[in-house]
Amino acid sequence: MFGRGNEPGGRHYSAGGLYAARARYAESRIRAVLAHVQAGGLAKLTTSMTESVSPARSVSGAISVPGDKSISHRYAMLTSIAEGESRILNYSTGEDCRSTLACMSQLGIAHEFADKDGRRELIVHGKGTHGLQASKNALDAGNSGSTIRMLSGILAAQPFTTTIFGDESLSRRPMRRIMAPLAEMGAHIEATNDQYAPLTIHGRALTAITYEPPVASAQVKSCVLLAGLYANGETAVIEPVRTRDHTEIALRELGADISTERRTVRIRGGAPLHGKPLIVPGDISSAAFFLVAALLAKEANLVIANVGLNPTRTALLDFLKSVGASIKILSVESANGELVGNLQVRNSRIRGGTISGALTAALIDEIPVLSVLGAASQDGFVVKDAAELRVKETDRIATVAENMKRMGIQVEVKQDGLEIPGKQTFHAAELDSFGDHRIAMAFAVAALASDGPCLIHNAEAASVSYPEFYRTLREIAQ
Ligand code: S3P
Repeated sequence: MFGRGNEPGGRHYSAGGLYAARARYAESRIRAVLAHVQAGGLAKLTTSMTESVSPARSVSGAISVPGDKSISHRYAMLTSIAEGESRILNYSTGEDCRSTLACMSQLGIAHEFADKDGRRELIVHGKGTHGLQASKNALDAGNSGSTIRMLSGILAAQPFTTTIFGDESLSRRPMRRIMAPLAEMGAHIEATNDQYAPLTIHGRALTAITYEPPVASAQVKSCVLLAGLYANGETAVIEPVRTRDHTEIALRELGADISTERRTVRIRGGAPLHGKPLIVPGDISSAAFFLVAALLAKEANLVIANVGLNPTRTALLDFLKSVGASIKILSVESANGELVGNLQVRNSRIRGGTISGALTAALIDEIPVLSVLGAASQDGFVVKDAAELRVKETDRIATVAENMKRMGIQVEVKQDGLEIPGKQTFHAAELDSFGDHRIAMAFAVAALASDGPCLIHNAEAASVSYPEFYRTLREIAQ
C-alpha cells in the first residue's frame, strides 16, 4: 500500500506561488546543510522523499504517538535553566524538538539519552536560571517557530548576545510579535527588515510589564512569561483568547511563582527552578491524523494510548464529537500537571461544522487534517478567523487548497479561511508537503480515503514533528 522513492527531478507545477514555495523549500534545505557544515557539524543530507499511499478500507489496532512537541520544547528549555538533573520520558522524536536541544547544548547545557526499561529517557543537566553561557556560533532553530520565539524570551535576559536563525520557512515568519514585548521589557533585538530571523538578541536586565498580545499565540505568551521569570517584579500577560497553557504548568511544576486567573497569567521574577523527573504525554496534534484516518475509513477501531488531554488542547475531541465522531476517552490520569489518557475511535458519519473565533485558535494545528475530514463530511466544514494559518510553516490556506484541488476537491479560499463543501470524493493525485509537516500528514490521510494510489512529494517534512508517521500509518491501514 505504501512505497517510497527518490523524487524525480525537473517536475513542473502549474501553481506559480506554490512552485516558488517548493523551490524556496529546496533552497532552504541546501542552506541548512551549509549552515550546519559551517557551524562545524556533520552535514545531515536530507534527500527529498516521495511517499506512495494507497486507499485503505480499514484502520485499526493500538498505537501510541510521539511525545507532545509543545511540552517537549518547554521541558528542554526549562530543565536547562533549572538547578540539577532532570530525567524526561517520552521527549518528542521530531526534528523541531531536536533543534531546541541543540540550541541548549550550544548555550552550555549538556544532555544525553538513556534507555529506561525499553523507553527513551532524556537527561538534562540543568545549571540554574543564571547558568547559560554565550554560544560561540549562531543558534539554529531549524523549522521551529516555538524554539525561536520561546527561547528569545530567555535569551533577552542573559548577560550576553546571541544570534538565532532558522530555515527558509522560519525566516519568513513574523517575529515582531515577540520583539515588541521584549523591547518593552528592555531587551535590544536586531532582525532582518526589523521583523524576520535571524534575530540578534542583546540580553539585558529586564523590567516586568503587563502585556496584551494582539494575536492569540501561546508562543508569544510563553516568550513573555520566560522573560518575566528573569524580570524585576510581576509580569502579566492578558490573552485575547486562552491558548495552550503548557508553559504555565511546566513553570509551576519546576517551582516558579506563577498564577492564572481567566485570561491573565502572572509571573513574579527571580524564583529558582528545580529539576525533576518529567513525563511527556503523547501529542494530541499528531493523534489528530489517525483520528481522522479512522473516522474516514469504512471500518475502524483504533486505540491511541497515552495522549495528552490538557483542556487547552482537547477542543479537537469536543469539535469532532459535536459533528458526530465516535471517540471515547478510555482512561485519564495526571502527569506533572498535564492530563493524559487513552482514546478509542471508530469510523463515523460526520455532519457539517463551522470552526470560528476562539475555536479556530484552539484547533489551529489541526485545521489541515480537519479540512480533509470536512470534504468527506455530510454538509462540509467552514473555517473562519484563521488568518494565522497563512503564517505557519507554509501558508496553510494555500497549501491545503492546492492539494485539495489536485485531488479534485472543491474548496473556496477566503483571506482568513476555507469553505469546503461535503460529500466529495478524493481522487488519486500527486500531492506535495511544500516542506510542511502537517500538510504531508494531512494529505497522507486524504490519500487513504482516495480512489487510487497517491504520491506525496517532499514527504520527509513529516519528520519535523513525527519521524515515525508513515510507519505507524502503514501498521494500522489495510
Ligand atoms: C505552539 C503554539 C502554536 C502552534 C504551534 C506550537 C506552542 O503557535 O501553532 O505549533 O508550542 O506554543 P502560535 O502560538 O504561534 O499560535
